Parts: sequence; C-alpha cells; structure tokens
Amino acid sequence: MIAIGCDHGGFELKQEIMKHLKERGLEFKDYGTYDTASTDYPIYGKKVAKAIVDGECEKGILICGTGIGISITANKIKGIRCALCTDCFMAEATRLHNDANVLALGGRVVGAGLALKIVDTFLDTPFSNDERHIRRISLIEE
Ligand code: RB5
Repeated sequence: MIAIGCDHGGFELKQEIMKHLKERGLEFKDYGTYDTASTDYPIYGKKVAKAIVDGECEKGILICGTGIGISITANKIKGIRCALCTDCFMAEATRLHNDANVLALGGRVVGAGLALKIVDTFLDTPFSNDERHIRRISLIEE
C-alpha cells in the first residue's frame, strides 16, 4: 500500500499520480489535501509519515509546490527517509543507496510526464542491500 499526500501546490500532480497508480493496478491511500484551497504542507507530510511508521503503508509519495517543505517535515519523523527527487537518476539512487521510503516531488518544479517516470523508478527499484549502504542507513538512525 502506498500513502500519498500533498498541499495545494501539489494537488494537480497528485491527481495525475493517483490516476497513474490506478492504471498500474497499485493500491494507494490518499491522505489529502482534497482540493486546491490553500493549506499547510506539514499536515500532510506528517499524515503520510505516520502511515508508514505505523505500518499501514510501505511507501509514501508527498508533493508540495517545491517538495522541500513537505520532505523536511517527513524527515523529522524517526524511521522516515524521504527523498526529494527531480529526475530518475536521483529516484533510482535513493532507493539503491538510502532505501528511501518516501518520495517527495515539487508540483511546481517537475511536469507530470517526468514526475510519473520518477514515481515508477522509485517504486520499481529495490534497495541494493549492500553492506555499506545498510551501515550508512543505521548511522542515520543513531
Ligand atoms: C505553498 O505556497 C508552498 O510554500 C509549499 O507548497 C511548498 O513549496 C513548501 O515548501
């Protein structure tokens, strides 16, 4: 199960991503926001992060205008490794190296075409399980 959330700056891109996830037959839970009214990105960053640490969802996707505020929020929660990605190289590397469990995107930064490729790369790339990456991830958690 994938947790997805956004603020008003990410609302349109969230709609595109949910349509894409549906087409791929992937299950997701929408944690809001549910319209374009101005709202506060930490609300959604926290909801999605909580869904993951509570075990309701395995991965998350967060979108705000830049992806910055919502990723900062999610990364304050222990156990969350949220990566703001602007291309597929970053999405692949953060799965292989950081075992990132949340992808952050900027709805005002990347177009829908690129964003969907980033989402696919993030969801389809497994963690490398390399010893050096496992060690580095444990150092984050200390
Ligand atoms: C909202 O205008 C904007 O600040 C927000 O979407 C995000 O970009 C914050 O980091």
